[in-house]
Amino acid sequence: MSISTSELQLLCEQVQIISIRISKFIAEERKKVKPSDIESKGSANFVSYVDKTAEKYFVEALKELFPEAGFIAEEDSTLVKAEKYNWVIDPLDGTTNYLHGVPCFATSVALLDNNIPILGVIHEINMQECFYAWKNGGAWMNGERISVSKAASLKESLVSTGFPYEAQDWNDKYIALFSNVQKSSIGIRRPGSAATDIAYVACGRFDAYYEYGIHAWDVAAGVIIVQEAGGVVSDFSGGTDFIFGEQFVCGNKKVHADLLDKIKKHFQ
Ligand code: IPD
Repeated sequence: MSISTSELQLLCEQVQIISIRISKFIAEERKKVKPSDIESKGSANFVSYVDKTAEKYFVEALKELFPEAGFIAEEDSTLVKAEKYNWVIDPLDGTTNYLHGVPCFATSVALLDNNIPILGVIHEINMQECFYAWKNGGAWMNGERISVSKAASLKESLVSTGFPYEAQDWNDKYIALFSNVQKSSIGIRRPGSAATDIAYVACGRFDAYYEYGIHAWDVAAGVIIVQEAGGVVSDFSGGTDFIFGEQFVCGNKKVHADLLDKIKKHFQ
């Protein structure tokens, strides 16, 4: 079975409605989460019942919407992956911000066809901005067409990034890269929600974004949104392993090329 562009557009509209509904639950719970509700997934990686419940709501709704598809999701490793179509879900990207009351967190849902994103919806909860795209349908935010920035080089670019929760053996070269990019651009931001970072590249607020040690559920929806917005996505060697390869860089064509140049100097 394959999905037509118009079926994909309808699916995308349904996923937006589901994302906005579940975002309301996430927003309402924010003031109710107590320190005792917070569990640790690693030395600095936290989760609460909000992420888990939101993910359960997504799985229930998406299963009903498209029963053939399997699931890859951040919080439940028991979910089953299907052969062709899979939903990739981060029910709450930016959990640390959320738990600290810092206003940048989002839901992120992608549909993969043989591991290639064909639909993506990122809903940033505080600004109530829904970013979405489906294959060959363009990229959108709250009903308006969006596109990547026109910055001509890294020098004229505002870049965003993120840092791994746990210290890694590549930390030193990552910091060296950070320093290099900071000196070669307008500046760097670290908002704390990778999905939002990528959505902001798609609408031209950021000119580029890069992160190492990042997961499929953080980036999959952003991939199709940036691509449909006219941007370029790659892994750290300029290749295509940017969803499951834990390394991600995107931007407009020129800035992506400049940034990739810097990345390759530090990561080869
Ligand atoms: C995290 C955020 C953060 C990024 C981390 C992600 P989570 O996602 O997207 O910006 O730097 O790598 O893990 O854990 O809050 O869903």
